[in-house]
Amino acid sequence: MRILSIESSCDETAAAIVEDGRKVLSSVVASQVEEHRLYGGVVPEIASRRHAESISAVVAEALSQAWLSLSDIDAIAVTFAPGLIGALLVGVNFAKGLSLATGKPLIPVHHLRSHIAANYITHSELKPPFLCLVVSGGHSHIVMVEDYTKMRVIGATRDDAAGEAFDKAARTMGMPYPGGVELDKVAELGDDTAYTLPHPTIAGSPYDFSFSGLKTAVINLIHNAEQKGETINKENLCASFRKAVVGCLTDNLFKAAEDLGTDKIVLAGGVSANTLLRRETERICKEKGLGLFVPKLNLCGDNAAMVGSQGYYEYLSGNVAQSDLNAVATLPIDYR
Ligand code: KG4
Ligand code: ZN
Repeated sequence: MRILSIESSCDETAAAIVEDGRKVLSSVVASQVEEHRLYGGVVPEIASRRHAESISAVVAEALSQAWLSLSDIDAIAVTFAPGLIGALLVGVNFAKGLSLATGKPLIPVHHLRSHIAANYITHSELKPPFLCLVVSGGHSHIVMVEDYTKMRVIGATRDDAAGEAFDKAARTMGMPYPGGVELDKVAELGDDTAYTLPHPTIAGSPYDFSFSGLKTAVINLIHNAEQKGETINKENLCASFRKAVVGCLTDNLFKAAEDLGTDKIVLAGGVSANTLLRRETERICKEKGLGLFVPKLNLCGDNAAMVGSQGYYEYLSGNVAQSDLNAVATLPIDYR
């Protein structure tokens, strides 16, 4: 089954063609990041406009790169939730139009589920059940993926997402948006024991995260140094901050793995590209004898190939939308 998939939940307009959930025939991503960088973050209104301008060409390019036409496609999958509402609406309406015009089924895909599916493309042997850490710019979840479309949330952030914390800390250190990637690179050069940062935990909720205090601690540290005329060692601060965030993520993830008795760990979302997170999960998995699956680097961030993969499994489970499908800004990963 060939699925044409569309993603427009944030600042990437993307389309792909994926066969039977695992084989990517084409994948096109048009990023708006350069434009949003001017404002230090995603400007929703600009994002919607750029999606509307590029979506036609991006979908046409995905078909052309796969040497296919619409008549060769069996279904259309689209990210409908969660995300920026105006941005999501562009993809959803475009997909609805295509579905209506061609008579092909329309498959609604949850953005975080699609991040998890990036692993089905990377690892052909991977099948649920597994325990997954989903860490992106907007979400930080520990999810038990019981089946392709059956998820149970084990833990989640109470405030900022891990990616958001990385981006805000990086911004305070003068790095361009999205700073998470840059902070990760600079951290590789630093001493992670140089600065002492808090390790926030939530009493009674061992799998939940809280990153806002950690972010504030870095901001205060920088401002205090500025006021006293002291210089901050950027490499060391990036390394210490990254270690603190990754420590919170891995502590809770492996506590959940132990308590739930899982033997497979999966990483997903933009932050799964983080060098230390990948290194640390690999080390701990080896130590504990657990299987580890991480997405290929080019599938960690937003793309439509992962939407085509998850779309296939949503279709198999009977999740097909009608022409009244709407975009939804907030929706739990276990919505159905
Ligand atoms: O999944 P994603 O592409 O978009 C959302 O769905 O939010 O995640 C983007 C987030 C950004 O916050 C970005 O800074 C972060 O992922 N990110 C990283 C790295 N690469 C991307 N954070 C830390 N280290 C990285 N290497
Ligand atoms: Zn994402």
